Amino acid sequence: DWIMRDHIEEAVEKIRAQVGDEEVILGLSGGVDSSVAAALIHRAIGDQLTCVFVDHGLLRLNEGDMVMNMFAGGSSYGRPEDEPAPSEGSERSERGGKKNHAKVVRVDVSQLFLDALKGVSDPEQKRKIIGKLFVDVFKAEAEKLKASGAGHKGATFLAQGTIYPDVIESGGAKSKKAVVIKSHHNVGGLPEQLGLKLLEPLRDLFKDEVRELGVALGLPHDMVYRHPFPGPGLGVRILGEIKKEYADLLRQADAIFIEELRSTIEPNSGKSWYDLTSQAFTVFLPVKSVGVMGDGRTYDYVVALRAVQTSDFMTADWAELPYALLKKVSSRIINEVRGINRVTYDVSSKPPATIEWE
Ligand code: XMP
Repeated sequence: DWIMRDHIEEAVEKIRAQVGDEEVILGLSGGVDSSVAAALIHRAIGDQLTCVFVDHGLLRLNEGDMVMNMFAGGSSYGRPEDEPAPSEGSERSERGGKKNHAKVVRVDVSQLFLDALKGVSDPEQKRKIIGKLFVDVFKAEAEKLKASGAGHKGATFLAQGTIYPDVIESGGAKSKKAVVIKSHHNVGGLPEQLGLKLLEPLRDLFKDEVRELGVALGLPHDMVYRHPFPGPGLGVRILGEIKKEYADLLRQADAIFIEELRSTIEPNSGKSWYDLTSQAFTVFLPVKSVGVMGDGRTYDYVVALRAVQTSDFMTADWAELPYALLKKVSSRIINEVRGINRVTYDVSSKPPATIEWE
């Protein structure tokens, strides 16, 4: 609609005026806010923007490729011939740079994260390790881009997908909280540490406005209306110690759950159960239970399905999903995911339970 188009034009002009002919780097997480910020800034300044996508290996099934395809149209340039092999076991690849496609540097550091998390089972410790390593990797990439320049001069701006509720939260409201229940890893002070100026084009917008903007900019509807996903990713959905084997099983099971939620329509509203829930996901429980498959006995892992309805995520009710849906998801997971032989449904509301299990 024309109001949104006006809004985009205005925002684009503002970004151009602020950035001039300088260069911008942006940390792309695959989430709504950073994706919309990237699309908007790319609309304004094209190749003066370089996105850095840190893939910590704790993302959902095919999520990394999805993020790359969304921005770079799926054309891979791989690592430039003359670029030295990346350090610290990171795999670096670049895509995009073409007209209409944003430049995205993908840094695959899953092994680095698995190594750092080895033997760690405390939820808060896991969050801290993931958060810190994420910042370290992003900083290292940003320093490279700042120095060498993805284009010619090197970046002078750091863009962030900060939205209005984040601005309020980092003001008074957060400090009133006496007890830290879970430390969220929002990156504070990063621009100062990197010596970069800050570009935050979504600062005045609420979440629903950010979503509308994303759709108007041509981002896929399903992506823009995705449920929230925590920064530490599957790291807080694998209880206790994180292992690659667990993450792989969880990714498969979760993909089935989400697929069924998206394809099951509730007749009265005509909406899918994905759209009728605020957040839904699968949790990996590192315990084994006995099952029977054909003539044989199995001794495999358990997953829990979690689906909640909430308006503010401060309180939440578990969703009354139809039994038929739960039945289908359960039988698909047990039949299709070798290594899982039991599926449970979490019927705890928040409070006293939190939405995530860690
Ligand atoms: P809880 O589990 O506290 O979650 O009821 C409330 C909302 O916050 C999300 N969440 C996180 N988001 N980093 C994030 O970026 C985190 O460490 C984190 N922990 C929880 C959770 O997914 C839910 O939407």
